[in-house]
Amino acid sequence: MGSSCGTCDSKAGCGQASSQAQAQQAHIAQQEVAIKVSLAKIKHKILVMSGKGGVGKSTVSTNLAVGLAQRGYQVGLMDVDLHGPDICRMLNLEHRLQDAERGEGRLLPPIQASANLKVTSLEYMMEDRDDPIIWRGPLKIQAIRQFIADMDWGELDYLVIDAPPGTGDEPLTIASTIPDAQALVVTTPQDVALADVRKSINFCLHVKMRILGLVENMSGLICPHCGKVVEVFKSGGGERTAADFKINFLGRVPMDPRVVTGGDAGAPYLTSGEDSPAVEAFNQVIDKVIGQQLATPRPIPLAQAGGCACGDGGCDPNKCSC
Ligand SMILES: Nc1ncnc2c1ncn2[C@@H]1O[C@H](COP(=O)(O)OP(=O)(O)OP(=O)(O)O)[C@@H](O)[C@H]1O
Ligand SMILES: [Mg+2]
Ligand SMILES: [Zn+2]
Repeated sequence: MGSSCGTCDSKAGCGQASSQAQAQQAHIAQQEVAIKVSLAKIKHKILVMSGKGGVGKSTVSTNLAVGLAQRGYQVGLMDVDLHGPDICRMLNLEHRLQDAERGEGRLLPPIQASANLKVTSLEYMMEDRDDPIIWRGPLKIQAIRQFIADMDWGELDYLVIDAPPGTGDEPLTIASTIPDAQALVVTTPQDVALADVRKSINFCLHVKMRILGLVENMSGLICPHCGKVVEVFKSGGGERTAADFKINFLGRVPMDPRVVTGGDAGAPYLTSGEDSPAVEAFNQVIDKVIGQQLATPRPIPLAQAGGCACGDGGCDPNKCSC
């Protein structure tokens, strides 16, 4: 409080402001605990990001999440592209949070998209999906923190997070809120996209986020007539960039018109099991992601993460759901 307080007419208002600030601090501290509790139950967190828009992040996120769920893993898919959420459309999910059955606790249910797949997106929370989203930084940060703290994700093997392009509030919030998140960087073969991918890699180095690997999407076009791959842009740049930065190259996924129709129809094509070079390439990416994850250490126990209210003596099952 400044020195002008002594002469200020609204001393009562000032006291109110400070108790509001205290309440806000208490809320943030509670939320921090809720975030730790939620994250401690999730083994692997993957942030799908890119420097440039439209390179296929949402396509990769959706297909990766569905592919992992098909392989028997428990998977969450979190859409943090708050201005342009696409995940519900890509999975044909029309659920509304307001209609969802709530459990006994205070946690909100994500969409149960299939037996092993839970999804959340701002679209699910909105009353009218056509409303424009005009949030600025602090609100976006809060929304993402609530996606983690207030959602009942339960035990997950993987949480896949679909980010908007660039290195703005959304990936920064993920980096600061989920310290063990790993980045899966998506690029396309053009030079301009590869210049942008270097920015994503530098971002990860800056915020000390481990890079799971790089996917080169739209790498060649599958000819609808003969099924062969036509090199539209030169391909292979992603692999070279990965080698330059000494990060894993997870594979090239060719451009296939069926990916677009699948995405628009809410039926992810890359996980369709069809016999096509794009499906085969994407399955290899998923296998590599699983292989990489197996090499990473398991998350630390909840009590050690400081997320459990039971203290050092271990968990009291009457008080604690961990
Ligand atoms: N391998 C592919 N073959 C053909 N089309 C593809 C492929 N990958 C993505 N697409 C299409 O490209 C378009 C952009 O993809 P997507 O929305 O996944 O990109 P994005 O990086 O998430 O975009 P944004 O930056 O706007 O969030 C979509 O219409 C999608 O169906
Ligand atoms: Mg997207
Ligand atoms: Zn052809």
